[in-house]
Amino acid sequence: MALSLRVRYLVNPGPINRNVTSLMAHGKTEILTPDAAGIARVADLLRAGQLVALPTETVYGLAGDATSDIACARIYEAKGRPRLNPLIVHLPSSGAVARVAVLNDTARALANAFWPGALTMVLPLRDGHGLSPSVTAGLSTVAIRVPAHPAMRAVLAAFGGPLAAPSANPSGRISPTTAAHVLAGLGGRIAAVVDGGPCGVGVESTIVAPGGSGTRLLRDGGIPREAIEALTGALVSDMTPGRVEAPGQLSSHYAPVAPLVVNSPLDDPGAIRVGFGPVEADLTLSVNGDLTEAATNLFAILHEADARAGRRGAAAIHVAPIPDTGLGRAINDRLRRAASR
Ligand code: TXA
Ligand code: MG
Repeated sequence: MALSLRVRYLVNPGPINRNVTSLMAHGKTEILTPDAAGIARVADLLRAGQLVALPTETVYGLAGDATSDIACARIYEAKGRPRLNPLIVHLPSSGAVARVAVLNDTARALANAFWPGALTMVLPLRDGHGLSPSVTAGLSTVAIRVPAHPAMRAVLAAFGGPLAAPSANPSGRISPTTAAHVLAGLGGRIAAVVDGGPCGVGVESTIVAPGGSGTRLLRDGGIPREAIEALTGALVSDMTPGRVEAPGQLSSHYAPVAPLVVNSPLDDPGAIRVGFGPVEADLTLSVNGDLTEAATNLFAILHEADARAGRRGAAAIHVAPIPDTGLGRAINDRLRRAASR
């Protein structure tokens, strides 16, 4: 098939974990564009069990065939992700979701309101679901999202099956919101990345588990808690760091390399200062104090602050206080995790 003429390559910088025998066939990562040729190439790679990082409206995801044991094994290996931390499955529609999982009334209402979009639901698996057991790390539930990003939707249509796609970062590192972030973390370890530009939402999806006795909130994210509660009533917060049920919620999950301080008055000139609102700083999440803009910028600013801290030696990153409401909850959650080492 036609390979996009705009394909470029990044040479393998070496394995993350030298003790792991590599399953990777590729020493190079193709950089593809989300045009017809690029999408067709992605579908071919996915059918061959390879991994492709794809833009979504939240963050870039590391996609592999969710029905393939080998593709799922490659995802865990490429990220250096603990095998007990299950993956999110991406599907094109609520109808496709209903073929692999069971939706109760609350789940259906949430699907109607927020899909396609930045909501992930943890749902009971349906018999005959066809997913690789390693997607769910052996659990009887599966985390599912119907994404809105046109490139991701085009790939889902061309591939025609469920895609497992955790965030496309090495485990424990900041999530990627650009193709350059993906390549900095995983270049050479994955077959390809589709460069769809920066992600609009900028933080990962909100994760909920709609149950018989109320809906539990497992992760704050791109859909504000308040918007979900308008439909479900009060959510039961269930985000204890390190819980087995949502092991991705480990406290240091989003750590940058440099030490990070939250709720800082930004009075240490030796630090890389990240502002919010009209304050003096080296970088700003949003000069107008806009939480949506701050969420969009969050990971790119943390990547940039980390790079600057590295260039200046042992400097820390200090971040101004962010209001703990709406998208501010997801931002503060990611900052707290990044600060926890
Ligand atoms: O926005 C997003 O959700 C992005 C994009 C790429 O879709 N994906 C993402 O995936 O953030 P990941 O793997 O980084 O986070 C998925 C989270 C993990 O914390 C995992 O533990 C949790 O979902 N999870 C997956 N399956 C679960 C399950 N059955 N029960 C509870 N938590 C689950
Ligand atoms: Mg992640």
